Amino acid sequence: MSKKTVLVSGGAGFIGSHVSVELLQAGYDVVVADNFSNCDRTCFEGVKKITGREDLPLEIVDFCDEAAVKALFAKYPIDAVIHFAAYKAVGESVAKPLMYYRNNLQSFLSVLEAAQEKGNVNVLFSSSATVYGEPDAVPVTEDTPRKPATSPYGNTKTMCEDILRDTVKASGGKLKGILLRYFNPIGAHPSALIGELPRGVPNNLVPFITQTAIGKRECLSIFGNDYPTPDGTCQRDYIDIVDLAKAHVYAVTRMVEGKMKEECEVFNVGTGRPVSVMELVNAFEKVNGVKLNWKFAPRRPGDVTAIWADPTKANNEMGWHATRTIEETLKAAWAWECHLAGK
Ligand code: UD1
Repeated sequence: MSKKTVLVSGGAGFIGSHVSVELLQAGYDVVVADNFSNCDRTCFEGVKKITGREDLPLEIVDFCDEAAVKALFAKYPIDAVIHFAAYKAVGESVAKPLMYYRNNLQSFLSVLEAAQEKGNVNVLFSSSATVYGEPDAVPVTEDTPRKPATSPYGNTKTMCEDILRDTVKASGGKLKGILLRYFNPIGAHPSALIGELPRGVPNNLVPFITQTAIGKRECLSIFGNDYPTPDGTCQRDYIDIVDLAKAHVYAVTRMVEGKMKEECEVFNVGTGRPVSVMELVNAFEKVNGVKLNWKFAPRRPGDVTAIWADPTKANNEMGWHATRTIEETLKAAWAWECHLAGK
């Protein structure tokens, strides 16, 4: 079988770079496309180094530019596209909703228009557990009802899910789609050559922890210790970034090999293991032998109490399983922060 080509929009970012590595290592041709609006070249260079692919194509494209996206589809024999190119800061989306709706919806519409025009393209959309809102029961399956999102960012994920579903349905079999709902991706590649590179003060927990441990931040605030959870702090399903990236290879293979059971499928990508903020902090200190400055602080508006995945569908249908322990993942996150600091 000839090699299949996957276009990765936002391919130079945190998740996109890890996915590009796994796709290349699984034998796919990859085209990385990014406009570097929220990342630099570090991870793209890292992908080339890890895979030994100095010739890895890079296209600097703003996915809101429909003509440019169509040109990409004309230039490469694209079998599948994975769409990551989007803004992702929850708080910023509350302050600047129009910026989020314009960017996140328009870029995905460009991808779908181009894919539809070309035909026979498989589309993988990177969705989020945010679509479940504050769930009535945990763990959540793919059939757990979606709830109104708590931010414009979350709304764009729900809307893009619906847009993909409707477009696939109307395509008469020309397009197929998979929605992957990520829980909380953390960690870094074991090579420490790629990882998360937040700009400014990190919003997410693990980058804040590693930056505090290295001395870039003074103190971690644990948002809320009065939640109705075993230790009072929020529970999440932290999924190793390499495990998460591998789920994309399973999903793409399922699409290009015609193994889908429905023309638009949805999978939770999580471990099924709830971990509280306090447990995560303790595990980080223990596994890395570092002391972290932390304090309890008031709850952060918009946070849900507890959410974790039931990953049975992805396990059984795609054959994908999360394999890394939280300790391995937190070691990798720390190794990456140390690598950035030149230590
Ligand atoms: C958020 C988004 C989610 C997105 C994910 C990854 C929502 C509601 N959440 O998830 O859609 O996919 O980021 O980018 O849209 N915490 C602290 N101190 C900190 C930072 C975080 O205690 O300095 C706590 C939070 O209160 C939360 C947990 O750590 O309980 C995880 O927070 P975070 O990493 O920001 O992810 P989520 O909010 O779960």
